[in-house]
Amino acid sequence: MRDSGVHVRSASAVFLWALLSFAVPCHALSIVAGPYLQNPSETSMTVMWITDARCTSWVEYGTTDPLDQRAFHREHGLIDADRTMHRVRIEGLSAGQRYQYRVCSREILKFEPYKVTYGETIQGEVHRFRTLSRQQQSIAFIVLNDIHQRTDILTSLMKQSASKPYDLVFLNGDILGHIEDEPQVINHVLKPCTDLFAQEIPFLYVRGNHEARGRYARMLPDYLATPHGRYYYSFAHGPVHFLVMDGGEDKEDTSPEYSGLVDFDRYRDEQQAWLAKEIRTEAHQTAPFRVVLVHIPPMPSERWHGPDDLYNKWRPLFNQGKVDLMISGHTHRYAVMAPEEGIRDYPMVIGGGPKEGQATVIRVEATRDTLRVVMTRDDGQVVGTYQVEAD
Ligand SMILES: [Fe+2]
Repeated sequence: MRDSGVHVRSASAVFLWALLSFAVPCHALSIVAGPYLQNPSETSMTVMWITDARCTSWVEYGTTDPLDQRAFHREHGLIDADRTMHRVRIEGLSAGQRYQYRVCSREILKFEPYKVTYGETIQGEVHRFRTLSRQQQSIAFIVLNDIHQRTDILTSLMKQSASKPYDLVFLNGDILGHIEDEPQVINHVLKPCTDLFAQEIPFLYVRGNHEARGRYARMLPDYLATPHGRYYYSFAHGPVHFLVMDGGEDKEDTSPEYSGLVDFDRYRDEQQAWLAKEIRTEAHQTAPFRVVLVHIPPMPSERWHGPDDLYNKWRPLFNQGKVDLMISGHTHRYAVMAPEEGIRDYPMVIGGGPKEGQATVIRVEATRDTLRVVMTRDDGQVVGTYQVEAD
């Protein structure tokens, strides 16, 4: 009887071991999105990524191998820890310089007040980036708009653009529809951009009206890095001074669709005041070219409040600031519009989208003398060109 009991206990132990071994898989820390580059400047670059477990993270970087420098994010004296979203700004870089980097994350298994238990550490692959430089003689950038979560279209447009090098990618609004949760941001923006270019080329988000909709719209800034954390900002690269603006929503703030939760009229006033100062800066005035990116084209609609409001508030300043080119989207009808007296002193290029036969990718090449725009449809057909000569 005793023997038999021992056997029963042994059998139970074996069963329990088998259950634990096979039913509970061993967790391996991994990166679920990124690394992707954000908020480039002449002296800094932000690297972002998401892990599937809580970590503390850093970036190893340098101009050559081995990557002998390390950057991490700290705030109020505390190094970021116990989080899945990682944002590291590398500072103190040189303008127009190539760097190599890799992301590193160390899992935090248990966070006690006086003891943190660490798990596995992972290292990403080595990637490269180049800092911006106003001295660079020529640059090229790509603009996508109104993808509306058609990741297949985004992929094919970017693959179409891959034959020539480019420095920056602008996502000019409505890349998403209304935003509901994190997987949507990961699956329709972060993952495709990372897979296609964003490990080595930064993307700049220009918010569209659809990205102001949905319960998770207020979380989108957590996944992006922009100057001062705003959706409107300026920066320069090569011969171009860029102004990125946020047109907000297209309907009245009081429209029932927004349930009393938007305040875009005053937000456009705030940007008007910023723009008035911005066009007086030396950086804006002395740049060979001034390019504006805004999702909703500033033109009178006589039907929609948002376009009318930003047309009235911003257009006089765009004229005054001698803008050379405006790039927009929103209408889903691609168009190239020359300057028109009394309406606007600058040309406006509007990208199409999001369906086959309407989707476009805009490529702009700038030298000290010329700004050259080529808009290509998803079938490879060039559907618009424009050229601006420097004064
Ligand atoms: Fe739109």
